[in-house]
Amino acid sequence: MSRNRIAIIVGSIREGSLNRKVARAICGSVPESLSCHIVEIADLPLYDPDLDNDPQPEPWVRFRREIADADGVLFVTPEYNRSIPGALKNAIDVGSRPYGQSVFAKKPAAIVTASPGALGGFGCNHHLRQCCVFLDMPTMQQPEAYLGHVSDEKFKEDGSVSDEGLSKLLVSLGQAFAGWVDLIRAGRAALAPDPSGSGR
Ligand SMILES: Cc1cc2nc3c(=O)[nH]c(=O)nc-3n(C[C@H](O)[C@H](O)[C@H](O)COP(=O)(O)O)c2cc1C
Repeated sequence: MSRNRIAIIVGSIREGSLNRKVARAICGSVPESLSCHIVEIADLPLYDPDLDNDPQPEPWVRFRREIADADGVLFVTPEYNRSIPGALKNAIDVGSRPYGQSVFAKKPAAIVTASPGALGGFGCNHHLRQCCVFLDMPTMQQPEAYLGHVSDEKFKEDGSVSDEGLSKLLVSLGQAFAGWVDLIRAGRAALAPDPSGSGR
């Protein structure tokens, strides 16, 4: 069975990020049908269309290739000032250009926001959904994932989740996303033109 490759983009670039811990925990608990890896965004120069002529900045080339090679994208991010952290927004802008060559288009996506606060990054989650509309990414609607009250205490030294509720939630998110990726890919295959040209 070929596995669906999932690119995880973590919206925090700080060492010790809670969202990176959440992302790693999801990576470790997804169903067999998915293989996940985190695509780094910290080294991406700020998007500037003037730099998008040859040669493009190497980190942009690397980032675009990693997303293009993926079958789906999982965003795991904190909320900054009730919206999308700048580093993540920059990564989205980099991947979306040059115009007409977005590496995000048509890829199934899911959004997880995590915060020590009570609202679980709700504002960022929905601003990011708005971007996904323009990016043409079919984005999983349910279960919604606004993870509130996330703290270092919910993780063990080895990175596994010590909090039973959070652990179960992350497993169910991984399962739902695996189903979503399968569904979108099957739908795309069904809509693809018949290579025999018979119209059947
Ligand atoms: C610039 C900045 C803005 C923030 N704004 C919010 C916010 O709007 N809502 C929220 O719940 N937390 C906010 N926080 C707190 C973050 O949720 C908290 O620092 C969290 O640990 C960041 O995620 P990370 O651990 O993955 O880096 C903000 C933090 C920073 C640095």
